[in-house]
Amino acid sequence: MNQHERIEKPVTGRRAETPMPVAAATVTDRVWDALLAARRSGQPKRSDSWTPAERAGWDLYAPLLGQGDRPLVFAQIGQSLDGRVATVDGDAADVSGPEGLKHLHRCRALADCVIVGANTAIQDNPRLTVRLVKGDNPARVVIDPRGRLADDAAVMAGERCLVVQACERERPAGVETLKVAMSAEGLDAVSIIAGLIDRGFRRIMIEGGGITIGHFMDADLIDRLHIGIAPLIIGAGPSGLTTSPVSLLAQARRPQTFVYGLASDIVIDCDLRA
Ligand SMILES: NC(=O)c1ccc[n+]([C@@H]2O[C@H](COP(=O)([O-])OP(=O)(O)OC[C@H]3O[C@@H](n4cnc5c(N)ncnc54)[C@H](OP(=O)(O)O)[C@@H]3O)[C@@H](O)[C@H]2O)c1
Repeated sequence: MNQHERIEKPVTGRRAETPMPVAAATVTDRVWDALLAARRSGQPKRSDSWTPAERAGWDLYAPLLGQGDRPLVFAQIGQSLDGRVATVDGDAADVSGPEGLKHLHRCRALADCVIVGANTAIQDNPRLTVRLVKGDNPARVVIDPRGRLADDAAVMAGERCLVVQACERERPAGVETLKVAMSAEGLDAVSIIAGLIDRGFRRIMIEGGGITIGHFMDADLIDRLHIGIAPLIIGAGPSGLTTSPVSLLAQARRPQTFVYGLASDIVIDCDLRA
């Protein structure tokens, strides 16, 4: 079979059905204010008087508001063209372009809490606050099963911080802990999300890295996944997403996807429940 024939022949019925609309998206002040108002009121309202790019900006973020009181789990990763989130030497500053970074901060502003894994918390020492757009800071959650994170980590300063752990490690005053049992597969992702919902978090964002997002993906707990792609090639380094592999492409997950152009970056919005 030649290459042309291979392309013509669909591998699965699902692939042929998957739509890939592409939309140029702009988040102007009036769109962002409407999204923040909808976050507060629970009543999303897109204006018909907006430009098509503004309406696309709304469409990108409105699903992250969730529906009613139902909890929503979403993940966002900013990666290079070759699927990397940092260099081998750990340089992760600004893989995303300026609009990709704003996108990350918008996602944080819509979330009640933001989760990172221990590697990210230790290597990048992020604050996980909202600085590039208007909005409130989410609570910060670090998954640190073995107690590797130092007590002076930036995530522990300021706003509400919660550490998910399997060990007996004491944390600084004011930092909450959620104890989850460790198995051969790691910490039970279902128990982590249930523990966060019990503590009042409804919009739960997973910011990375790839290993952490992968645990929640494998447990089928993510409703929405945003993959931001910036036009650079890194060559090697940690992957944006690390899930259990499949042996046949026919077994691969093929979510419904929507593609948005945000000037410096594109964002692929994957609806994992469609
Ligand atoms: N560009 C982006 O959007 C973005 C966002 C975030 C991070 N990053 C980059 O990603 C890299 C780090 O990512 P990574 O994939 O190596 O690591 P990671 O996901 O940040 O952290 C993984 C670690 O977290 C703990 N962990 C998380 N979930 C767990 C579970 N369910 N069960 C057990 N342990 C769990 C484990 O810690 P232990 O090993 O201690 O057991 C695990 O090894 C950094 O270079 C960072 O800069 C990029």
